[in-house]
Amino acid sequence: MAKKIQFILNGNTVEVMVGETELLVDVLRDKFRLTGTKKACGTGDCGACTVLLNKEAVRSCIILAPMVDGKEVLTIEGLGDEKNVHPIQQAFVDAGAVQCGYCTPAMILTAKAVLDINHDPSDEEIKTALSGNLCRCTGYSKIFQAVKNAAKAMNLKR
Ligand code: FES
Ligand code: FES
Repeated sequence: MAKKIQFILNGNTVEVMVGETELLVDVLRDKFRLTGTKKACGTGDCGACTVLLNKEAVRSCIILAPMVDGKEVLTIEGLGDEKNVHPIQQAFVDAGAVQCGYCTPAMILTAKAVLDINHDPSDEEIKTALSGNLCRCTGYSKIFQAVKNAAKAMNLKR
């Protein structure tokens, strides 16, 4: 049975009707047209669908939409855009870490979740944090470097 839920999406309070078994990734993509959130494996294994739920990185393909009622969701569209580029997005561009459109939004959001609580992560901590975001293309070196650079850039602004 469908029910109305209300939550904060990218800073705005929104209401939407969702089914009991509807997935958050589908609601974000199909009902809000926030297609920066990708659906790849659909089984919680690849991390491509990562969004922040109450500031924690979660896989939206295994979160039931009714579970976000009253909570806060951040997608890549809410982090920044062309006019207001977030330092993590800029760091990914500068490091050449935007390797594919499928993985990058999720990796940036995962990096944000980490850098919000750990302002100076070690290499190992960055690797551990991103270990659930799978990349099958050119590898992780530029991605790790981007997160390190983003940490520095964000610390300069604190
Ligand atoms: S699409 Fe959600 S983890 Fe792969
Ligand atoms: S960044 Fe998407 S497969 Fe490597």
